[in-house]
Amino acid sequence: MAKEARADIYLPEYATVKRVLPMTQTEKYFEFALDSGRELGHMPGQFAEISVPGIGEAPISISSPPEGKGSFEMVIRKVGNVTTALHNISEGHKVGVRGPFGTVFPVETTMKGKDIIFVAGGLGLVPLRSAIKYVLDKRSQYQNVTILSGTKTVAERLFTDELAAWAKRTDVNLFETVDVGDASWKQNVGVVTTLFPKIKIDPTKTIAVVCGPPVVYKFVILELRKFAMQNRDIYVSLERNMKCGVGKCGHCQINSLYACQDGPVFSYADIENVREAI
Ligand SMILES: Cc1cc2nc3c(=O)[nH]c(=O)nc-3n(C[C@H](O)[C@H](O)[C@H](O)COP(=O)(O)OP(=O)(O)OC[C@H]3O[C@@H](n4cnc5c(N)ncnc54)[C@H](O)[C@@H]3O)c2cc1C
Ligand code: FES
Repeated sequence: MAKEARADIYLPEYATVKRVLPMTQTEKYFEFALDSGRELGHMPGQFAEISVPGIGEAPISISSPPEGKGSFEMVIRKVGNVTTALHNISEGHKVGVRGPFGTVFPVETTMKGKDIIFVAGGLGLVPLRSAIKYVLDKRSQYQNVTILSGTKTVAERLFTDELAAWAKRTDVNLFETVDVGDASWKQNVGVVTTLFPKIKIDPTKTIAVVCGPPVVYKFVILELRKFAMQNRDIYVSLERNMKCGVGKCGHCQINSLYACQDGPVFSYADIENVREAI
């Protein structure tokens, strides 16, 4: 299966839109199935290039875990040409898919048997959801699971039903915040780092997985350091402008690293000295 995907890394496969749902004013949820019937074969943290014929291609994180259900899920924010074209398609329409590409959150290796803290800023919950659902599906293989999630406003919260379900679980510690609350909001108000005083971290057995806009990394890593966490135990997912997605065009280069191939998931220990990585 993986060999087939690599046979021509530039040739998209057709996929059909199974489901499309509005999530917020700017984000839509999509479920795609490859027309060949094969599983995408991804792991949490990876992305795929999604194309609209005649418009172009965009790298998008895979938001579902590998479930073996013959489809995969994404959340797409409308920002420009390709993402607007994707927002205009509906169920039954075709898109092109290349991938999966990139490195993975170490759910099957480093994270096993550890306390896990997920920190999501805004759209960062989209790739993290794949890892969160993976961990919760195999809950007994991990120790304490904590999720910190923040958005700018209440209206920008994603996957609200799933957040509500995670909040009810006794084996998950979920803390949410919004930068600006409203009358309906009864939880924390402030940026995602304001949630750190509510949690405990044992740095000897915790892995942190962080995903959000660049400013989130900078300040979340400072908070994690206050708990004496080691850089090697902090994983981040870096977003860069990408074209090929497979280490050929150089669009995503961060000094000697290609975000598409060496990342998007990096251990912070591997990039702390790389200029402008974060
Ligand atoms: C690994 C990876 C995973 C991503 N996952 C998601 C996801 O799950 N959901 C989602 O909605 N988006 C995601 N993105 C961002 C998405 O790829 C861009 O928003 C998209 O490529 C924009 O294409 P466009 O043609 O609609 O916009 P364009 O018309 O190309 O550009 C619109 C504006 O967005 C800027 N832009 C384009 N690409 C990027 C980028 N990668 N980072 C920052 N600015 C950019 C352009 O410079 C321009 O200002 C991801 C990007 C990467 C690299
Ligand atoms: S996107 Fe082409 S090298 Fe990374």
